[in-house]
Amino acid sequence: MEWNTETIKDFENTTKEILQIISDNYIQQGTDNACVVCLHGDLGAGKTTMTQMIGQILGITETINSPTFVIKKFYQTANSVFQKLIHMDAYRLEGEQNLDVFRLDQDFQSANTLMIIEWPEIIESVIQKNAIHIFIEHDGAGRKITFKKTA
Ligand SMILES: Nc1ncnc2c1ncn2[C@@H]1O[C@H](COP(=O)(O)OP(=O)(O)OP(=O)(O)O)[C@@H](O)[C@H]1O
Ligand SMILES: [Mg+2]
Repeated sequence: MEWNTETIKDFENTTKEILQIISDNYIQQGTDNACVVCLHGDLGAGKTTMTQMIGQILGITETINSPTFVIKKFYQTANSVFQKLIHMDAYRLEGEQNLDVFRLDQDFQSANTLMIIEWPEIIESVIQKNAIHIFIEHDGAGRKITFKKTA
């Protein structure tokens, strides 16, 4: 699926629509493991912005900042399906060495959890085949958003 958003408000509406699809799909598949969503896009494409919008829709009141330096942040939501949000930014990771310390297996096995990963390309080999992929591209002042259930 594909959307072309002009304004930040369009972008927010598309984010809502995509989150609804993701949530419905997650309920159908069973919620025992995390729903992993990979956000692809260049610097400044809007990956963190989309995550912040998702956080707001899920009822997170805490401010969601880019986890570039801490790599991973955890939030409790007010949502019954996605009770936890894990926000990961792999940008500063160098290749795939020493990934063990991040205990991603634990995250992937976390029930009722939405796990959003920025710069997933950097840790590609550890991401499951059934992860969801969202591509955000600059398109003039707006953004083109492509949603794929599998890569
Ligand atoms: N849909 C949009 N339309 C217009 N501006 C946007 C949009 N999304 C994000 N921006 C603006 O672009 C800037 C960078 O956005 P953001 O931090 O979300 O990018 P990012 O993809 O997370 O980048 P990085 O790779 O550095 O983490 C912000 O100032 C934000 O307000
Ligand atoms: Mg970011």
